Amino acid sequence: MKILITGGCGFVGSNIAIFLKKKLKKVNICSLDNLMRKGSSQNRNRLLKYNIKNYKVNIEKYEKIKSLKKFDLIIDCCAEPAIEVSKKEPDRVFNTNLMGTFNILKKCINDKANIIFLSSSRVYSIKKLRALVKDLNIKSPLKIKKKIKENFETESASSLYGFTKIASEKLIKEFFFNTNLKYLINRFGVISGPWQFGKQDQGFASLWVAKHFFKKRLSYIGFGGKGHQVRDIIHINDVCSIILLQIQNLKKINNQTFNIGGGDKNKISLQDLTIKCEKITKNKLRISENKRTSLFDIPYFVTDNSKIYKFYKWRPLQSIDTLLYDIYIWLKENKNFKKYF
Ligand SMILES: NC(=O)c1ccc[n+]([C@@H]2O[C@H](COP(=O)([O-])OP(=O)(O)OC[C@H]3O[C@@H](n4cnc5c(N)ncnc54)[C@H](O)[C@@H]3O)[C@@H](O)[C@H]2O)c1
Repeated sequence: MKILITGGCGFVGSNIAIFLKKKLKKVNICSLDNLMRKGSSQNRNRLLKYNIKNYKVNIEKYEKIKSLKKFDLIIDCCAEPAIEVSKKEPDRVFNTNLMGTFNILKKCINDKANIIFLSSSRVYSIKKLRALVKDLNIKSPLKIKKKIKENFETESASSLYGFTKIASEKLIKEFFFNTNLKYLINRFGVISGPWQFGKQDQGFASLWVAKHFFKKRLSYIGFGGKGHQVRDIIHINDVCSIILLQIQNLKKINNQTFNIGGGDKNKISLQDLTIKCEKITKNKLRISENKRTSLFDIPYFVTDNSKIYKFYKWRPLQSIDTLLYDIYIWLKENKNFKKYF
């Protein structure tokens, strides 16, 4: 089997590529990535060590994609995933995230390749998610019991990023309609782990550990600026394990959309994340408060993993403590990555 991982030098794509290379001995794995994300050239170097080729191609250019060899499966991990970039560079977000999917789907049809698409929990309505939290400035949303299922509202606004993901999901169904090709759509919540070069609006867990480790400035942004907002976080190792299961079971389980995330056991507020980072790094920062809330930010998201569990008997195994410790060890072994944070 030949697998193409788009965004293969990104955080998620590179980890999946290396994991699959180790687990599936007879499989040929290639990456497509134009290396535009900071840190992705570091990940490209890792791929090279595992003999995984990267095609330095812009996903917006179909002619280049078309000329690549034939693949049996495409794992689409390519996107501009930072929500705030949608405001500053809408054309690039639209072209990479939506035209990129369009191009990859043409390649799928051409090659008769199946697709596993990395969608996002950000497809869900910002308004409806905000309505789950009554008063963020005073009360911690950690007390909220609601977990988000696949049928949560996707109709209203969810940011340009969210739009490109839900539109990509629709495109996949259009392209694959009436074919024998198989697709899976995974709406992941926050993913983190080693080799994530996190930013304030994308990859906050690795950013938090790194800022503490390198003793750099950090701020709580939005919702009163106290760090009350809550997310569940899934360890990249758990992401890799479910992708492997999906590949192994693709003949039986396909054409489904799943929510996948850290779940109730792995939810945490930014405030509590700070406490854990202080313990691990033994460094304490003075974190500034920025009360202004971005139009696109959400105060709370915790994944309901019951559908993915029902289909695969799979659930995330790694705790937040393990996740943070793994990031800490990665940084300790790569102190020269300070410049990326
Ligand atoms: N990390 C998360 O928390 C998370 C959560 C849910 C969904 N996702 C989805 O998972 C996928 C991977 O996310 P990630 O965290 O690894 O992001 P990432 O930014 O680390 O990886 C994306 C990769 O795509 C590449 N890329 C960007 N534009 C490109 C273009 N025009 N042509 C070719 N390559 C291009 C970048 O260089 C980068 O290496 C994305 O689709 C993202 O939307 C991520």
